[in-house]
Amino acid sequence: MDRLKAKERIEYLRSFLEENSRKYYVENAPVISDYEFDTLMHELEDLERAFPEFDSPDSPTRRVGSDISAGKDFVKRPHKYPMLSLSNTYSISEVEEFAERASKGLSEAFTYSCELKYDGTAICLTYRDGKLFRALTRGDGVVGDDVTANVLRIPSIPHTLTGSGFPEEFEIRGEILMPYESFDRLNEEREAAEEPLFANPRNAASGSLKLQNPEEVSRRGLICTLYHIPSGNIDAPTHVEALTLAKSWGLPVGIENIRICRSIGEIEDFINHWDVHRKELPYPTDGIVIKINEMALQRELGYTAKSPRWAVAYKFKAEQACTPILSIDYQVGRTGAVTPVANMEPVLLSGTMVKRATLVNADQMEMLDIHEGDWVYVEKGGEIIPKITGVEESKRLPGAVKPVFPSVCPDCGTPLVKADGEAKWFCPNSSGCPTQIKGRLLHFTGRKAMNILCGESTIQQMYDLDLVRTPADFYDLRYDQLFLLEGWKEKSARRFLDSLKQSLDTPFEKVLFALGIRFVGESTARDVALHFGSIDALANASMEDLLAVPDVGDVVAGSIYNWFRIPENAVEVQRLRAAGLRMSVDEGERAEDVSDALEGVSIVISGNFSISRDDMKKLIESNGGKNSSSVSGKTGYLLAGEKPGPEKIRKAEQLGVKIISEEQFYALLPGGNPSGNSSEGGSLFGGMDTVEPTLF
Ligand code: IVH
Repeated sequence: MDRLKAKERIEYLRSFLEENSRKYYVENAPVISDYEFDTLMHELEDLERAFPEFDSPDSPTRRVGSDISAGKDFVKRPHKYPMLSLSNTYSISEVEEFAERASKGLSEAFTYSCELKYDGTAICLTYRDGKLFRALTRGDGVVGDDVTANVLRIPSIPHTLTGSGFPEEFEIRGEILMPYESFDRLNEEREAAEEPLFANPRNAASGSLKLQNPEEVSRRGLICTLYHIPSGNIDAPTHVEALTLAKSWGLPVGIENIRICRSIGEIEDFINHWDVHRKELPYPTDGIVIKINEMALQRELGYTAKSPRWAVAYKFKAEQACTPILSIDYQVGRTGAVTPVANMEPVLLSGTMVKRATLVNADQMEMLDIHEGDWVYVEKGGEIIPKITGVEESKRLPGAVKPVFPSVCPDCGTPLVKADGEAKWFCPNSSGCPTQIKGRLLHFTGRKAMNILCGESTIQQMYDLDLVRTPADFYDLRYDQLFLLEGWKEKSARRFLDSLKQSLDTPFEKVLFALGIRFVGESTARDVALHFGSIDALANASMEDLLAVPDVGDVVAGSIYNWFRIPENAVEVQRLRAAGLRMSVDEGERAEDVSDALEGVSIVISGNFSISRDDMKKLIESNGGKNSSSVSGKTGYLLAGEKPGPEKIRKAEQLGVKIISEEQFYALLPGGNPSGNSSEGGSLFGGMDTVEPTLF
């Protein structure tokens, strides 16, 4: 390749890899496969080696992909030891080369630690005096996001170590993973809410770790496995022995899946074993990591700018199949979103027959450059959901044309619309489009919503007979009308009416979910219901009020706000209320609604408390206070927990805002400390990482 071409290609690859790295690490929505990404990265490495004059310190080959979230979400903190990545390969011969290089470079005999390459999101934990002190994401390898509050909600990560012999302070790194079961459940919930699905468990894990709501993190079913101790201050001659000690302190280390190998043959056996058996694991893995086991030799080999020289990752290729597209359906969802779905010649993939796969949206079809009858590559995202990842252009039929995305609703014929910034086309005829009407009814009656005994075919019949159009119509159905349904007799009619009656006991949060407001899934409905307490408060909420709910962003807030401003929806809510549905949370559910001791007082919180920050916010609000995010002249108190943000402290001092400790805060409430515990480490003034007493 000539210099000019090489320069062009290098620039193209750098920008393409940058863009896709952002999609992968920050947006958690990759559009190309890992294999494609890694192959292009290797091509760039080769070109940079061949044309060193175009070398650049910001090349993606020199930096680790950054997961750092832009803006305000998390406190950013520097890593004590840079958080690097691993050099990876898809070829056994490159693993052999690694082993050869190591034998040549090392003076002493050594062993390899062969382990699973866990496919989640990297985490760095610091334990100080046996307690979990901090958790940082990889970030850009130099600075990471402080996600301690979220990590404290992952059950397999101990808050306090057991046993003895651990250093006063050490770092241990590993992976936060989402097991397949949790992933399926989460995506099912998101599908029901028509929220965008996570492409695979890895994206779901990293998205979950970046939530602003630790309560929700604990519901996501995350697990953790640890595999690297960068602080190197654990008294053990080998990596495996150090991990074994870590395990004895209660830390989650998958020792049982590590094997010490002595030859390339043993490494290959290990790889071949897991290439087959990894499918039996309940969590995702994407390869094998081979490390030099002796700590002294690891130190001897050292690091490049991006990865250790003492380790290599062998990655498994995602299983792929190639099959022709037979036709494309355009499915309308209950919120009107139109999704293209490819029907393909059935093909076997990871043990299951796949015949349908989503094409996601019109942009994705464009990006894949899909033509009618194309042979396409199908992969299982995280080995679960089939996804079309590419087209085999050599098999394209001559004269094949691109499918035309419909301009009108395939069900009701209304012209489709696309809102600014949205990737999906919509049928705007929400009150007249039969698919949307039936979809909403089915959603309303669903098990996770009102749990009314009635399936798709019953809804179809009720719709055809003009018995129901909106959920409130169910509650107007009379016993005799039910006999119009095919095969319905006294018993079925009674059972149905009983289940309708029972549905009146459904808690408000589920009623809210059942209404089918776009982007309001089960967990958002729960958060919003508990935050506002009643449908009236929610209906009157301003955008600002809605945005105050943790993890509710512009899109969700806008969707709720607009829903309540559609007159038909207001009528529907009134009819459902009249039918007896619960339109506010039970006293029991909102037990925290206890006093008006903090009426009108604006409180900013900072640092960690003996209860979660989320619970602390609720406590403030349930006592009539207002939780605000930044200190201003209007702030009543800055409530400082363990390790408060120095910026906030400085601002409060500057503005003369009173700074109070957790204990002092409880003293303001009628019942004192609601949990009955004292804050960890006694008062704020006693512990080691506390604010200087002079501040108060
Ligand atoms: S050791 C200096 N061991 O894979 C880096 N990493 O693609 C030491 N990973 O950055 C990392 N399983 O996030 C190590 N058993 C394992 C791993 C592992 C997964 C991740 C890790 C790393 C990435 C590289």
